[in-house]
Amino acid sequence: APVKVTKICCIGAGYVGGPTCAVIALKCPHITVTIVDLNKARIDAWNSPDFSLPIYEPGLVDVVRQARGRNLFFSTDVDKGIEEADLIFVSVNTPTKKSGVGAGFAADLNYVELATRRIATVARSSKIVVEKSTVPCRTAESMRTILEANSKPNCRFDILSNPEFLAEGTAISDLLSPDRVLIGSLQSPEGIDACESLKEVYANWVPQERILTVGLWSSELSKLAANAMLAQRISSVNALSAICEATGANIDEVANAIGYDSRIGPKFLRASVGFGGSCFQKDILNLVYLSESLHLPEVAAYWRQVVEMNEYQKRRFSKRVVDTLFNTITGKRIAVLGFAFKADTGDTRESAAITLIKDFQSEKAFVNVYDPQVESEQIWMDLQEASPLMPLETIKKQVSICSSALEACKNAEAVVIATEWKEFKDIDWEAVYAGMNKPAFVFDGRLLVDAERLRKIGFRVTTIGRPS
Ligand code: NAD
Ligand code: UGA
Repeated sequence: APVKVTKICCIGAGYVGGPTCAVIALKCPHITVTIVDLNKARIDAWNSPDFSLPIYEPGLVDVVRQARGRNLFFSTDVDKGIEEADLIFVSVNTPTKKSGVGAGFAADLNYVELATRRIATVARSSKIVVEKSTVPCRTAESMRTILEANSKPNCRFDILSNPEFLAEGTAISDLLSPDRVLIGSLQSPEGIDACESLKEVYANWVPQERILTVGLWSSELSKLAANAMLAQRISSVNALSAICEATGANIDEVANAIGYDSRIGPKFLRASVGFGGSCFQKDILNLVYLSESLHLPEVAAYWRQVVEMNEYQKRRFSKRVVDTLFNTITGKRIAVLGFAFKADTGDTRESAAITLIKDFQSEKAFVNVYDPQVESEQIWMDLQEASPLMPLETIKKQVSICSSALEACKNAEAVVIATEWKEFKDIDWEAVYAGMNKPAFVFDGRLLVDAERLRKIGFRVTTIGRPS
């Protein structure tokens, strides 16, 4: 029979583990939820008395405020968390491998494996182990082998796949009313029981018909497939934006027109300077690697093109800036508004802004950056990582971090909108214009501002997906 879950442990207090398990705690007051992580600074931030949490996510503080200390706990004591729980989420990072076999494509499963081995070593009673991290298809099989080879007598491990579909910036509302919750299990009686146990947890707030139960491998693959299809939509619309710029068609109008087709739908068709974020590129490369390992080179090439189109889109945008500024930006000051990979997050992983700034640096421009959420320290770390051979002092001679959009634009030749923060729509553009060198250029990489209004002020505006 299914176990009634009363204690949950989540290994990994990051963008997924933190918000996901905080919402479970909020919605299931009868379940004790402990989120553990090896990173002490991160756990301290989750526990901070003034709720200065380690990640910025609208609505997250309210959830943590209600549940923390009641049935939600954050701790660095990973072993104790594992020992006490009947259900364990593995929500650790699975970045792209940087070296070794599959470098640049395959997922680095080291963190998943270490967490799995820790569970096997520490557990003294049976556990349901849930893959929350995004992993290649059939990872659950490896986890099971490791657990079974290392378990104590009388310990059973059932493995489930329960991928997370939240998007950053809307994580809390995505978690409170998900399009669906997906649970994969072995189709054995034990597997189906374990699946029921987890289903019961979600059923506290998610309607039954939105909880889909499938086989383990389908569940793992569905997560990669969903991200690949979402990213493919953006690369498709971005590819069309290049045609628009060359022909006089307008990508906003084209996206709107095709989005009316109910089979296509209106969402996720916004042309941009390129998608970023920790997952799209990583998960597609993972799918490419999987296809290649399965001797399916055509399938691999098909998905790889989604990432290549994205790289092209970023390069194309930087080139358009240089071309428009009379073919040189050497010694010119460029204001980059936004550093996060999308609005409403402080996350900068794979942000297009990083690539743009690097391109401007190699053209020997000066860059002023402003982002309302990203810490300066993070910006320096990302720029250093993007140019590992350049000493940070050299980077700092070319790049300055500003504390407002207005300050960033002062004495600049051009403003580049890299993130669609709402406040960039509402800045005092007259004041921005007054402070800039002339002619003053705006490059809207996010279809954010009203180009006509800015032109009336005097700006020369270049928008993605529209002819100059
Ligand atoms: P993250 O880097 O923010 O968090 C992972 C955490 O796990 C880190 O704090 C790290 O210290 C901790 N950790 C690693 N190994 C550990 C161990 N052995 N024991 C204890 N703690 C350990 O990553 P994230 O963005 O939360 O992503 C986690 C997973 O979820 C990834 O597989 C990702 O693909 C997937 N995912 C992410 C998102 C997203 O929006 N970020 C959405 C859906 C799925
Ligand atoms: C994405 C998916 O949307 C989530 O379902 C998934 O769980 C998550 O990846 C993951 O696995 O990590 P996320 O990366 O947080 O979520 O944010 P998105 O809203 O998907 O945006 C990704 C990137 O695409 C951003 O840079 C965004 O600006 C860009 N984008 C998005 C566009 O350029 N155009 C669009 O129309 C939509």
